[in-house]
Amino acid sequence: MKILFLDQSGKLGGAELSLLDLATAFRETCLVGLFADGPFQAALTQRQIPVQVLTQQTVNVSKDTGWLKGVASLRTLLPLISSTTQLAKNYDVIYANTQKALVVGAIVAFLSHRPLVYHLRDILSAEHFSSTNLRIAIALANRFASLVIANSQATADAFLQAGGRSELVKVIYNGFEVETYRQLAQQGRQTQQTWKQQIGLGNHFVVGHFSRLSPWKGQHVLIEAIAQCPDSIAAVLVGDALFGETDYVQQLHQQVDRLGLRDRVKFLGFQQNVPQLMAACDLVAHTSTAPEPFGRVITEAMLCGTPIVAAAAGGAVELVHDRQTGWLTEPGNSAQLATVIQEAATQPNTLNQLRQAALESASQNFSIRNTVTQIHHALDELTDIKALHPLKSLG
Ligand code: UDP
Ligand code: GLC
Repeated sequence: MKILFLDQSGKLGGAELSLLDLATAFRETCLVGLFADGPFQAALTQRQIPVQVLTQQTVNVSKDTGWLKGVASLRTLLPLISSTTQLAKNYDVIYANTQKALVVGAIVAFLSHRPLVYHLRDILSAEHFSSTNLRIAIALANRFASLVIANSQATADAFLQAGGRSELVKVIYNGFEVETYRQLAQQGRQTQQTWKQQIGLGNHFVVGHFSRLSPWKGQHVLIEAIAQCPDSIAAVLVGDALFGETDYVQQLHQQVDRLGLRDRVKFLGFQQNVPQLMAACDLVAHTSTAPEPFGRVITEAMLCGTPIVAAAAGGAVELVHDRQTGWLTEPGNSAQLATVIQEAATQPNTLNQLRQAALESASQNFSIRNTVTQIHHALDELTDIKALHPLKSLG
C-alpha cells in the first residue's frame, strides 16, 4: 500500500518521532510530505524514508487561531493543496499526522479521490484548543476521514465528546523499538556516574524531566516539588521550547533562581540521546497539567528501566498502573510529587520492583511491531471496504 503521510512540522515533537518509527515500516513505498523543513526532514532521510518539503511558506493555523485568521491562512494553503493533490495521485491513502495536515489532507483526499486517515494525537478539548479549531477538526474528520486512529483511549473519548463519529475511531497506541531502548539504556547506565559528575550532580538522586518546555508540560510543578525535597535530590530538565514558549522558559529560570535551586535544577536543552539520559536518571517525572494524549516519555522511561512518576490524566493512566508499574500523582500537585520522589529516593526495593514490572509491561504493550501490525490491518480493512463500495470511498 502506498501511503502519503502529511505532517505540518519540521521539528522533532512527539507526533513526528512517532511517525518516524511508523514510516520506517512503510519506507519502500511511502512518502512523507512536510509543511516545513528542519531536523525532522533530516531524521527521515537518515532512516532512508522518502521525504519532501511541500512548501517553503509558513502554514499559519496555530492551535488558538480564530476563524478570520483561519480563512486568511487558507489562501496561503492553496498552492500547497494544489501541489499535494498532484502528488496524491501516486498514492493509495492520505495519512494526516497533525491538525494542519488534516486541513490540507482533507481537501487533497477529496480532490484526489483517495481515502483519508487522520492519526489523532491530540486531546480535542478546550484545555488544548480554541473552540473554532475544535469545530474545524471534528467537522473535517467527520466529513472526510475514513479512519481516525487515536493514540489512546483518552484521545478517542475526547474526540467522541467533541462530536466525532464513533464508527471512525480506532485506538492504536504508539510503538517503540523495544530492543533499541534496551541497548541504549544499558549504555546510559554504564556512564551514569560520569554523567552525573559532568553536570555537577555527582552525589544526587537525579529526577529527569524530558519534554518540550511548555506551560502545560508542567516543568514548574517539578521545580516546586524539588524545592520541597532534601538537598540530596536534584532535577534535570531535558528539552527546549519547540513552539516559541520563550516567556515560560524565562519564568522557569526565574523560579529556579527565586527558590535558590541553581545547584539542583539543570537545564540541558533539547537532546537527541534521550534513552541514554533517561537510563542515567534515578527517576523520570512526567508533570503535564492538562491531560496528556499519550506521553511518549512515559513509555520510554519504562522501556529504559527507569522508574516513572506520571501525572494521572489522559493517556498516562492507560500506560502506568499506580504503584505497580510506576507512580501516578494528581496533575499540578507538587507536594504529592515531592512525597513520591522522596519515597523513590529512600526505598530502593520498591524502585526495583516498579522498574522491572514497568519494563515488562511496556515491552509487551508498546512495541513498534504491534503498532505497525494494527495499522496495517486497519489500512487493509479500509481499502477492502473502498474496493467493495467505490462510491463511499470518495469523500
Ligand atoms: N524528546 C527529545 N529530546 C528532548 C526532549 C524530548 O527527543 O530533549 C522526545 C522524547 O523522548 C519524546 C518526545 O520528544 O519521544 C516527546 O513526546 P511526548 O509524547 O512525550 O510529548 P509531546 O511533546 O509530543 O506532546
Ligand atoms: C502528541 C501528544 C503526545 C503523544 C504524541 C505522539 O504530541 O502531545 O502525548 O505522545 O503526540 O502520539
